[in-house]
Amino acid sequence: MSGFKEESLSGKTAGASQNGHEGREITPPGRRSFLGLILGAGAATVGVLLSAPLFRFALHPIFKATVPLKWTEVGEVKDFTSAKGPVQRYVKIEQRDGWRKVVTEKVLYVCKDPSGKFSTFSSICPHLGCSVAWHDEKKNFICPCHNGQFTSDGKLLSGPPPRGLDLLDCKVEDGKLMVHYQYFRQLVPNKEVLT
Ligand code: FES
Repeated sequence: MSGFKEESLSGKTAGASQNGHEGREITPPGRRSFLGLILGAGAATVGVLLSAPLFRFALHPIFKATVPLKWTEVGEVKDFTSAKGPVQRYVKIEQRDGWRKVVTEKVLYVCKDPSGKFSTFSSICPHLGCSVAWHDEKKNFICPCHNGQFTSDGKLLSGPPPRGLDLLDCKVEDGKLMVHYQYFRQLVPNKEVLT
């Protein structure tokens, strides 16, 4: 008698688990988890697609190279009119580095040819990057590190530098001399801009 009860109870339980309560069909667990997986993957994809522009905007400055601003004022043109040789000038160069604006001070030389045309030279030696200086008594630029020497118009005279001094773009605007400061690769025979 008790064996019969147990059998009929277990038979009821088995019937309920297959057909569900009140005759509704229950989705098998494997199918449920598969649908859940599809829905989850869809939601994740939509989330990634929507957030991609935000990430790109936020991270853009990290991957962008450090960029100097295009033109920097060197001084009033009248300050150089009576110069007899290269004139040393310190200029403040603004660069955007990631989210920060970085201001550094650089040395350059302003030269003027007999026709009054200006040229500007970086003071960074193209050999190993020491600062060259104008020596008025010798009428040339000399690098103190390995005695590289350059003429007043930047040509290589002697020493280990692989090329002459690097010319920087300059222009006159509203009575002011402006320079486009750039960095150049050292130890190479031809001028190469570093970005
Ligand atoms: S760094 Fe200028 S000559 Fe070597």
